[in-house]
Amino acid sequence: MSDRPNHDPGVARSVAVIMDGNGRWAAARGVPVAEGHREGARALRRTVEAAIDLGIQSLAVYAFSTENWARPPDEVDSIMELMDETIDRELPDLAKQGVRTRFFGRRDRVPAALRQKMEGLEAETAANERLSLWIAFDYGSRAELVDAARRLLADGVRPQDVSEQAMSERLYAPELPDPDLVIRTSGEQRISNFLLWQSAYAELVFDETLWPDFGADQLRSALDEYAQRARRFGARGQ
Ligand code: IPE
Ligand code: IPE
Ligand code: MG
Repeated sequence: MSDRPNHDPGVARSVAVIMDGNGRWAAARGVPVAEGHREGARALRRTVEAAIDLGIQSLAVYAFSTENWARPPDEVDSIMELMDETIDRELPDLAKQGVRTRFFGRRDRVPAALRQKMEGLEAETAANERLSLWIAFDYGSRAELVDAARRLLADGVRPQDVSEQAMSERLYAPELPDPDLVIRTSGEQRISNFLLWQSAYAELVFDETLWPDFGADQLRSALDEYAQRARRFGARGQ
């Protein structure tokens, strides 16, 4: 939640990734889109392992947006099933490596069985400290801000007491550190409703790689690009 990094400014400790390009990866191979998402789940595992090696402390990934419900029902179902399988198969291995996983977004529309698995994994990994993995699922930044405004009202906060801190405390994941770096894969150059509040001063890196092909090399190159950037947070640079 801090506005400024309290570490070597050239090193990104908090990284967020918009994992995009699964559909194009599948289309290029003439395989169903679900295959692209499956390969995307493998890329997530690779990337988390690389992030551990690179000393990243917090990794937030955009897995399913509030707008992605508008996709064909078959595709939405395949993403829900895949998240279920990923919790069973991939994330426990990451947990053994010290990864603490948390989900953030709306929980009320996700199938009940999946929601229980999400909560189970969060509870099982709560004491892990090596890397925090934040999975944005049924997440949209505008919905998050609307929900935060509702909570302010429900809590009876007076207008003069509404502050940046009061808002931050009411986001879906108040403990999620503001990202130093946001990476979007697949060449698209937009935010698509991800972490609008939290990314106010994040550096943005756009990578052409389709998400299923992403891995340690691409992550390292994004961090190298980040290290070249001068962050000023609105102040006069030296
Ligand atoms: C990202 O890949 C995964 C989700 C949005 C769920 P896409 O499925 O958006 O891939 P493209 O953009 O169609 O290639
Ligand atoms: C953003 O990608 C959402 C996720 C990566 C989960 P989209 O593919 O849904 O975004 P648009 O439609 O290209 O903006
Ligand atoms: Mg996309």
